[in-house]
Amino acid sequence: MKRIVILISGRGSNLEALLRRCADEAWPARVVAVLSNKADAAGLAVATAAGIPTAVVDHRQHADRGAFDTALAEAIDAFSPDLVLLSGFMRILGDAFVQRYAGRMLNVHPSLLPAFTGLHTHRRALEAGCQVAGATVHFVTPALDHGPIVAQAVVPVQAGDSPESLAARVLAAEHVLYPTAVRWFVQDQLCLDGGRVVHTAGAAQSLFFA
Ligand code: GAR
Repeated sequence: MKRIVILISGRGSNLEALLRRCADEAWPARVVAVLSNKADAAGLAVATAAGIPTAVVDHRQHADRGAFDTALAEAIDAFSPDLVLLSGFMRILGDAFVQRYAGRMLNVHPSLLPAFTGLHTHRRALEAGCQVAGATVHFVTPALDHGPIVAQAVVPVQAGDSPESLAARVLAAEHVLYPTAVRWFVQDQLCLDGGRVVHTAGAAQSLFFA
């Protein structure tokens, strides 16, 4: 049974999708804690309602990034996770922190990486005239929003899209994509081939939404 710790900063809709799929599909895994850098993150209530322990490590109460990373790692390690999931966790993590969880930390990012790392992905995709957009699940490496790609979901950009309407379409795709990728990890179906992630049973690592 793999132990999962999930890090959030806000709404927690991906957290909710992960919890639902983990329960519905009886994964060989358990979410053992949900941690947030923000005490008012709505997702903390989602975790509490599911009976999952929560903790807050507030970045503003630490002198610098290193001190925050150390406190966060202590909070995570208290739950001895096999897998750490960044799920709308909006803090940049230092190299030492990332190395500590190398090969066992995943992130979901709302763009088709390597395009549009960072913030405002949907506005930038629209400004660039992209005809498709999407989301990526990847292993976390020190470079922001980089790292071996586990799976990607593609959605169409529609005429008249606003950043908000595109974000909503991408988010719905994330809710399918992220649990799918995490299920592969907990079922030991992922292996690294150089910088690439390969699904050992050959499952399609791309999802397309009309
Ligand atoms: C999601 O769209 C996720 O991809 C994004 O934050 C949102 C969190 O929503 N993450 C990033 O931008 C990380 N770079 P949620 O709290 O409802 O899951």
